[in-house]
Amino acid sequence: MKKNSDKKNFPVEENLFKIGSQKMSQESRDRALETLSNYFRKQQKNFLGYQVNNSFDYKIAKEFFDIHINNVGDPFVHGNMTINTKVVEKAVLEFYAKLWRNTLRHEESVEEDDYWGYILSMGSTEANMFGLLSGRDYLEGKHLLIDDEGKRGVKFGVVSENKNSLHPIAFFSQDTHYSIVKAMEVLKIDTFFDEAMKQGYKSPLEMEDYPVGFSSKYLENGWCKEVPSDENGAIYIPALKKLVEFFASKGHPILISFNYGSTFKGAYDNIGEAFSELKPILEKYGLFSRKLKVDDEVYDRDGFWFHVDGALGASYMPFIEKALKSGKITNPENYKFPEFDFIGHGVHSLSMSGHKYMGSPFPTGIYMTRHKYQLKPVDNPMYIGSPDTTFAGSRNGLSALIFWEYLSERSEEEHISEAVRCELLARRTFKELKERDKRGVAMLNRNPFSLSIRMKLPEESIVEKYSLAKEVFFVKNRATKFAHIYIMRHVTDEVISEFIEDLEKSNYF
Ligand SMILES: Cc1ncc(COP(=O)(O)O)c(C=O)c1O
Repeated sequence: MKKNSDKKNFPVEENLFKIGSQKMSQESRDRALETLSNYFRKQQKNFLGYQVNNSFDYKIAKEFFDIHINNVGDPFVHGNMTINTKVVEKAVLEFYAKLWRNTLRHEESVEEDDYWGYILSMGSTEANMFGLLSGRDYLEGKHLLIDDEGKRGVKFGVVSENKNSLHPIAFFSQDTHYSIVKAMEVLKIDTFFDEAMKQGYKSPLEMEDYPVGFSSKYLENGWCKEVPSDENGAIYIPALKKLVEFFASKGHPILISFNYGSTFKGAYDNIGEAFSELKPILEKYGLFSRKLKVDDEVYDRDGFWFHVDGALGASYMPFIEKALKSGKITNPENYKFPEFDFIGHGVHSLSMSGHKYMGSPFPTGIYMTRHKYQLKPVDNPMYIGSPDTTFAGSRNGLSALIFWEYLSERSEEEHISEAVRCELLARRTFKELKERDKRGVAMLNRNPFSLSIRMKLPEESIVEKYSLAKEVFFVKNRATKFAHIYIMRHVTDEVISEFIEDLEKSNYF
């Protein structure tokens, strides 16, 4: 068996928690929980390593912790499981629909462009999975909720005589979270690399088509496995265009998963720009809009699906945009603000994690799309009395209350000020680290408006103290270990000063 050299032992004594055939004494249980709590409190104080806010105090969650609240089924249909927070969930969804410039729902009769979404039980992984599942089925020609007739989930229709017309091909960048890679595997979606290997195609990209600094180590059989990213970690649009054109010319519908706040570098794909650049290609190959035929009926469908993984960025970048517009913050020179939302950028689905920027005691998040992109569920269970339009069955009803408490106690101005505070602290921290890194050994990097600061991996005691994440990247073709810190809402000047002091003491610079 392969040994994992990075595997750490849990720093709390495991024997304290062993459950035997006899019940544990109250004293033993108290000791076990107190040990765990003490460890968590210590780690929470210095938590810099991951993109989650680790300080909050939701009163509402405590009040409802002794009731089973379950939002099973569609958020817009109350259903038979009466103890649910769907009324709260709808208010939260409407807030984000406005923030992401989606069309508000017409309550009397829902229109095709109106938003639809739900609050997740998992984090963005669930929304990424559901967005890509919906994209796959939509492009494969399965029935939509808005189609009157037709069997549930059954594939139908011929778009053209081209054998690939119902065979979507997926694209995403090198900086994409592993949940997207996992989704490809679970959902059996072919990426452009998979299809190229199956068909033995030659890559349309020559070496000069790759971005500056791209390492040939990422190539396999002459192909990049994922779309190359630029030096900031955003999808490299010139390469994306060539790859999309190659597969569009063979008749494949196009499924793209974009990042809005990539995991390690906090990079933003400019989805607005990608849309403008790809639109003529999609039009050229009849994929911008196309017709599906079933018997005598003809249905209009897009021949592409854009999913946005906005796990972190979708929650606070809209406030940064507002701050920029009102002059509360400045744009770095020559930086084009990355566009991403539902207005005019061809976006079909979007995910966001609630436990990241906002903060929550458990993973949560939001999936959002439009009514016209919802697939017909494979079954219509009478059991729950609400359509089975979401990914999972039971849905945690406490998450809606967490979102609601957070959103209802802040004005828009306060949201803007908090986003600006994080941005300014990230700028200052980066500057202070840079000033100390006279020899450039720390390989420090930060993208505009990213809350992540990347750096060479510090020594293990610092990794443990600040819960730092590790990653390996090729630098000049050499595998190099990096870490990052994330300036989330709970991070204070004091923790940053202590972190910098610890780095100095360890001779890091
Ligand atoms: C960009 C991105 N997408 C998706 C995810 C997965 O989110 P979760 O762990 O909340 O499911 C993460 C988590 O870090 C992420 O950074």
